[in-house]
Amino acid sequence: MSEKRKLIIDTDCGSDDAVAIAMALHDENYEVIMITTVCGNVPIQQATENTLTTLEYSNTYFPDVYRGCDKPLLAPWKGSRDTHGDDGMGDLGFHSTRLKAREGHAVLKILEALRENEAGSIDIVTLGPLTNLAMAIRLERDTVLRARRVVVMGSTGLGHGNVTPAAEFNIWQDAHAARIVLEAGFDDLMLVGWDACLGDAILDEREIEMIRNSSELGRFCIDSNRVLMSLNKRRFGRDCLDMADPAAMAAALYPQCIDRCERYYAEIETAEGPSFGSVVLDYYGFTGQSANVAVCSKLKSAEFREYLFRTLGVNK
Ligand code: RIB
Ligand code: CA
Repeated sequence: MSEKRKLIIDTDCGSDDAVAIAMALHDENYEVIMITTVCGNVPIQQATENTLTTLEYSNTYFPDVYRGCDKPLLAPWKGSRDTHGDDGMGDLGFHSTRLKAREGHAVLKILEALRENEAGSIDIVTLGPLTNLAMAIRLERDTVLRARRVVVMGSTGLGHGNVTPAAEFNIWQDAHAARIVLEAGFDDLMLVGWDACLGDAILDEREIEMIRNSSELGRFCIDSNRVLMSLNKRRFGRDCLDMADPAAMAAALYPQCIDRCERYYAEIETAEGPSFGSVVLDYYGFTGQSANVAVCSKLKSAEFREYLFRTLGVNK
């Protein structure tokens, strides 16, 4: 049995983050060595509680959870209650009964893990705004570059925005942090765009019911996304689930499901205005700059579903 690959998950634990975390915890090829929380969908305390609740419902092993930054670097915190509910988990009153976060700041714990483990032995997947990662880079950039790769749920990919016409929520909520991450000099940084979870990656009513009826974890994964489903009814006109963080987790841990991913030179727009928080891709090479990021904009429908159902224990 080859050694499991080590994974750090950074999350603003809304309801789709919860599904992604459950997937990673059930992937036998990875060991989640810690989960760090960040202010994003919900305030930091709620993101941390939601993460602990997710660990309890996932009911596998229980990585240490550390609280991170409680506000974006510069921009005001806005949150996303319309997408995930006030508590980020569908306002159903889910809560962990026995788990607690560990003492220590997430940013320092990320640096400690990267310093103490062999260079290239830890993958990082971020599911929320990049505040924690940016702070770690500002403190010890060379230590953060010891990560083997960083996969970010963030950007519109090659598509359109979900919080403004030009921007996707995770980048938009802390665009200054995203700029620091893109300029850090990672060799293997991938942005999974919101468009990767759209199109034929959207879960339909039948698949939603199948997951919900599969287990207590399946019911938790679906019911906690009920606010997102009611938003989708309004924006897409049908009961469906666009699973942004699960798409990013699948792209990170099961790259066989990636259909489209290209490297570009990209910059983050941090000037106030209609494009604030957008990821500007130099698609035709106008800048002459070498690529600094890979952008995954599409998943293979069957492979994504196979991985999602397998890691959630859903027997099709
Ligand atoms: O734009 C989608 C992203 O914003 C997801 O990570 C979701 O959880 C929210 O944080
Ligand atoms: Ca998220």
